[in-house]
Amino acid sequence: MSKVVYIPGDGIGPDIAAAVRQVIDVSGAEIEWVDAEAGLGTYSRKGTPLPTETIELIRQHRVALKGPLTTPVGSGFRSINVALRKEFDLYINLRPVKWFSGVKSRFTDIDLVIFRENTEGLYSGVEHYIDSRKSAAESVAIVTRYGSERIVRAAFDYARKHGRKKVTIVHKANILKFTSGMFLEVGQQIAKEYPEIECEDKIVDNMSMQLVMHPERFDVIVTTNLFGDILSDLACGLIGGLGLAPGANIGDETAIFEAVHGSAPDIAGKNIANPSALLLAAVLMLRYLGKIEIADRIEAALAQVLLEGTHVTPDLNPEGGVHTDEMVKAIIAKL
Ligand SMILES: NC(=O)c1ccc[n+]([C@@H]2O[C@H](COP(=O)([O-])OP(=O)(O)OC[C@H]3O[C@@H](n4cnc5c(N)ncnc54)[C@H](O)[C@@H]3O)[C@@H](O)[C@H]2O)c1
Repeated sequence: MSKVVYIPGDGIGPDIAAAVRQVIDVSGAEIEWVDAEAGLGTYSRKGTPLPTETIELIRQHRVALKGPLTTPVGSGFRSINVALRKEFDLYINLRPVKWFSGVKSRFTDIDLVIFRENTEGLYSGVEHYIDSRKSAAESVAIVTRYGSERIVRAAFDYARKHGRKKVTIVHKANILKFTSGMFLEVGQQIAKEYPEIECEDKIVDNMSMQLVMHPERFDVIVTTNLFGDILSDLACGLIGGLGLAPGANIGDETAIFEAVHGSAPDIAGKNIANPSALLLAAVLMLRYLGKIEIADRIEAALAQVLLEGTHVTPDLNPEGGVHTDEMVKAIIAKL
């Protein structure tokens, strides 16, 4: 039995998290769930969006599956996701972007993996107004040599382990000569240790255009926090939307698995959220826990449902989509 901290989250979170839990339970993966909470709902009930008990449970069990959490825009509490990543030094944000047969999308030939630095850059949380009239504000992007090295190394190690051919370092070193410049310099240095893997670099604006026009040219992408955040949503759009994109926040001791998407308030409570992204995050989690065979079986069951296309949520089939629980039943039937 492996213990996993289970955080349902906000908006569509509780629905998709319950769906995923059901699939994992049926699969025989032998996961013992440890219930915890975080998010806007928790904030309303307990006055804090991230209770100490939740942090302690994650510290104790080291693996968590988390639904999306709502972060108020502009004012209000700071992102709990960013806080968790910092608290547990989850420096790798791994975001595989893969097209599944049967899914209608702009491209079909896509299987890339984004490594987003998860603890530094413009998400360091150092920002403030610079005068008392609040007429101007500044955010500080902190990029360290240490932080750059470990994320680039993680990307190259992954490429080597999974037989990937190329790593693309994405930056803005032409303008941000210190922060992005150092990231690129460190990246190119580390690339020399992996001679069998092609290394290229791209400026982020060009990269955005290239990704939209020729996504098949990319394999493993490594970049800083903000660029990785934006590019991974962009990449999800290429394979059929956010409903299909998993993510993993990984540190040396702890890992938190989640969907790339947010709490989707526009469809919350309608039983139409696509559970695939969080299910694929759970598949990453099972692989992390060494439960490879069961992870493969769950992914294959989902792939079959996506291929048939008859029991998928409306984001994948706007004319004939089914409810979340019907899609889950179909996945379980394939298992
Ligand atoms: N890791 C996280 O917890 C996380 C990530 C991103 C955003 N957020 C938070 O989520 C909230 C809403 O953010 P947003 O609206 O910008 O982004 P979002 O990802 O929640 O939604 C963007 C669009 O994608 C759709 N969508 C998202 N997930 C879907 C799914 N599983 N099935 C079908 N459609 C889906 C939504 O309906 C919406 O139209 C914000 O508070 C934001 O801070 C949290």
